[in-house]
Amino acid sequence: MALIVVTGRGGAGKTTTTANLSTFLAMREYRVLAIDGDLYLPNLGFHFALDNVRYTLHSVLRNPDVDPEWAVYRHPQTGVHVMPGSTQLQDVLGISPRKLVDVIDRMKYKFGVVFVDSPTGIPFDTLPVFELADYQLIVVEIERSPIYSFETMVKNEIEKLKTLGERYGLNIGVVLNKVRESRDVVDEIMDAIEEDLNVPVIGWVPFDNSVPESINAGIPVLLYAPKSPAAAAFYETGEVLEEWMFG
Ligand SMILES: Nc1ncnc2c1ncn2[C@@H]1O[C@H](COP(=O)(O)OP(=O)(O)OP(=O)(O)O)[C@@H](O)[C@H]1O
Ligand SMILES: [Mg+2]
Repeated sequence: MALIVVTGRGGAGKTTTTANLSTFLAMREYRVLAIDGDLYLPNLGFHFALDNVRYTLHSVLRNPDVDPEWAVYRHPQTGVHVMPGSTQLQDVLGISPRKLVDVIDRMKYKFGVVFVDSPTGIPFDTLPVFELADYQLIVVEIERSPIYSFETMVKNEIEKLKTLGERYGLNIGVVLNKVRESRDVVDEIMDAIEEDLNVPVIGWVPFDNSVPESINAGIPVLLYAPKSPAAAAFYETGEVLEEWMFG
């Protein structure tokens, strides 16, 4: 089972969502691999304090002698297996994103769930991966989308990515992140997405400073600050995700 995490705009919370939902499933005893598919600006490693490792996804894509398993690290606190990317420009140039498909194809047989964190927008780096994915999560930042411009901004953003996912026959869900609005505004937004765009909202996560703190600590907020509002929200979202994926 492979799940791709995407967003229309940068900084919406793809990587945070990938880190926390993979943590949730790992804590539920699934064998989980989180791959950093953002080849140009990878940062999944930071969320798990794996930003300075010897082998990365880039080493695998660059050098056929590097076994993909060498670039998989088990995060001790959460049990999530992580394949981080390299932050060095010289590792990024001249690699083939196409090879990413072979890596994920191979990893799909070794893990119950493979999360692929994507670059922002139409994820050209990970596009070939859509062919072998099963699910697509669209992370939408609500903070910058006040309700009056909702129609034009959020809907357009979700619609584009939804069309992309549908083209590859993926199951598509939405996660709202960095929410500062009140409960009734959120309900209105969720209704609009579910009714007008016909995609389920898997969960919504409030804006919470525990999130950047947890990234600094290298432990996803779900485990780092379990009593925080963001952790509670990721927990609930994880429960819905588990039901959605595994019934
Ligand atoms: N719920 C939240 N509350 C507060 N801050 C958050 C929340 N979610 C994410 N952030 C912060 O927003 C920033 C961007 O988050 P993240 O890296 O997950 O987004 P992204 O979509 O992966 O970004 P990029 O486009 O750079 O890949 C991070 O600094 C993170 O700490
Ligand atoms: Mg990211």
